[in-house]
Amino acid sequence: MAFPQSFLDELIARCDIVDVVSSYVQLTRKGSNLFGLCPFHSERTGSFSVSPDKQIYYCFGCKKGGTVIDFIREEENLPFRDAVQVLAKRVGMEVPEEEGNRESTRRRGRLLELNRDAARFYYQLLQQPEGRAVQAYLDRRKIRRATAVNFGMGASPDAWDVLLNAMTQKGYTKSELLDVGLVVQNKNGRLYDKFRNRLMLPVIDTRGDVVAFGSRVLDKSEPKYMNSSETPVYSKRRVLYGLNLAKKSKRPNIILCEGNLDIVTLHQAGFDNAVASMGTALTKEQISLLSRFTKELVLCYDNDNAGKVATERALQLLNGSGLSVKVLQLPRRRTEEGELVKQDADDFIKNQGPGAFERLLSGSENGVEFRMEQIAGKYDLSSDEARVAYSAEISELLASLPGAVEREIYAFRAAETARITPDAMKQEIQRARKRWIARENRAELRKELNPAASSQPKERSLRYDNIRSARAEEGVLRLLLLDDTLFPAEPPLREEDFSSPLLGRVFARLWQARTEGRTVALPLLAGELSTEEMSHITAICQRPESLKNGGRALADYIRVIQKEAEKRSGSKTDPLLAAAEKYKDKKGEKRNVK
Ligand code: CTP
Ligand code: MN
Repeated sequence: MAFPQSFLDELIARCDIVDVVSSYVQLTRKGSNLFGLCPFHSERTGSFSVSPDKQIYYCFGCKKGGTVIDFIREEENLPFRDAVQVLAKRVGMEVPEEEGNRESTRRRGRLLELNRDAARFYYQLLQQPEGRAVQAYLDRRKIRRATAVNFGMGASPDAWDVLLNAMTQKGYTKSELLDVGLVVQNKNGRLYDKFRNRLMLPVIDTRGDVVAFGSRVLDKSEPKYMNSSETPVYSKRRVLYGLNLAKKSKRPNIILCEGNLDIVTLHQAGFDNAVASMGTALTKEQISLLSRFTKELVLCYDNDNAGKVATERALQLLNGSGLSVKVLQLPRRRTEEGELVKQDADDFIKNQGPGAFERLLSGSENGVEFRMEQIAGKYDLSSDEARVAYSAEISELLASLPGAVEREIYAFRAAETARITPDAMKQEIQRARKRWIARENRAELRKELNPAASSQPKERSLRYDNIRSARAEEGVLRLLLLDDTLFPAEPPLREEDFSSPLLGRVFARLWQARTEGRTVALPLLAGELSTEEMSHITAICQRPESLKNGGRALADYIRVIQKEAEKRSGSKTDPLLAAAEKYKDKKGEKRNVK
């Protein structure tokens, strides 16, 4: 455990779950619990419950649950230690350094300080005669001084070791400089500055730390962009360029572009909600980061093949993320020679102005419109054959839309494109919809017939190898949490007796707390489990258990667990027996599922 237990205990005691949850969800009392609309899934009736006695929350709809810390982890999308920080701040508690992490925290701090000093160094250089070439480049690209300052832009000197010397003089070691990738080593072991004669773009995370640098050459040479490599303080999957500024924007969404300078131009034109993924494909980590700051994402990738592929990929990844998504398509531009060329956001703003971009933004399409256009683009609609094929493909897409109004509206548009009557298109969609529903139903049915295959939880620790034993193990945990006086002084089970390592671990943890004379309750598990594991354990405790015959039930549970454990240890020695047992288990499982 990373934080001292006494600190966590006090934190949980001071952060009353009803207080904390109430600042996110409107709760009303029903009996001993409070209920409200679940913040983790969309619903009209409140299945989300908070128990002041147990200090836990649980949603009967989406089955998420846990302690006050888990709530903040889920709601604010934070790792455990950050959730602890948020709560500690709320109640004015000092967070102790994590044991064992002190050294790595110190090292991280040093590396971030080094990055900040380097950023200052580059920034100052830009204001001096040595920065003239970069300044001239910014002028050429119409990047104003205030904008450059806002982004903390700088200039790296046209030399091999100026930064190296300046930073070693400040007391940083060579290995620290190598660690953050500001300095590289040649074959002969000589160190030299990685960034030379470039426009420097510090990458600042949402906490305000300089975690890396992007940079651009001033002429046509290669590589055009050069970024810091992955370092102990920089993981490019988790950072978006410009989000440190965009998170403060008053605009209702966040615009995601490909290029660093696209977003610089956008911010300068008043679109201070733009961020860039710096030439890499959007990641899951970036999506969860974005969803902390916005509800709507506007994809603004280049209007070329690569950009379309990236958009389609991003749409798929964003499916089910909770973010609503729009696609802003930048029109191509006709050159004086009459050629159609792509333009990025930077080109577009410079050619057409911010007003035109604002119009594109407000008219930007949702994912359906984008996909419809992609499909239309595949067919030459002057031929009858193509119009038939287009109608068939488009009706498959529209049939999958959940809303009838939505289907109808897009049906009109598709009919126009295919130049057929809206009625014909609607009929086509209706037929496709019937097939679609039948397919969905079959999938549902398969799930019902074979729940083990389709509803197995993703996390390995939540899967049960032996359902019979696992159900009994759940029962033991439930009883222990409900009324630990049912249990003797000595543990009736060992951790190894549990077929589910997770349930065994939880039992051992709760038992240990009990021997220490503490109240056996779910908050004891704070920080030990992932949010999924915590939800799982919370769900187990929600299932009904009668305490009237608690002692009998407990004895039954223990007997089942011990018998199954014996089988397991026996089966280790005799492979033939093991095979036989496995066969029996399978049969038992099926019966149990029913
Ligand atoms: N990129 C990169 N490395 C490269 C090329 C590109 O990391 N060698 C990233 C940069 O973040 C860049 C983005 O990919 O901003 C988009 O690249 P590209 O479309 O080639 O450049 P532009 O953003 O249009 O750059 P500029 O306008 O400065 O020419
Ligand atoms: Mn560009």
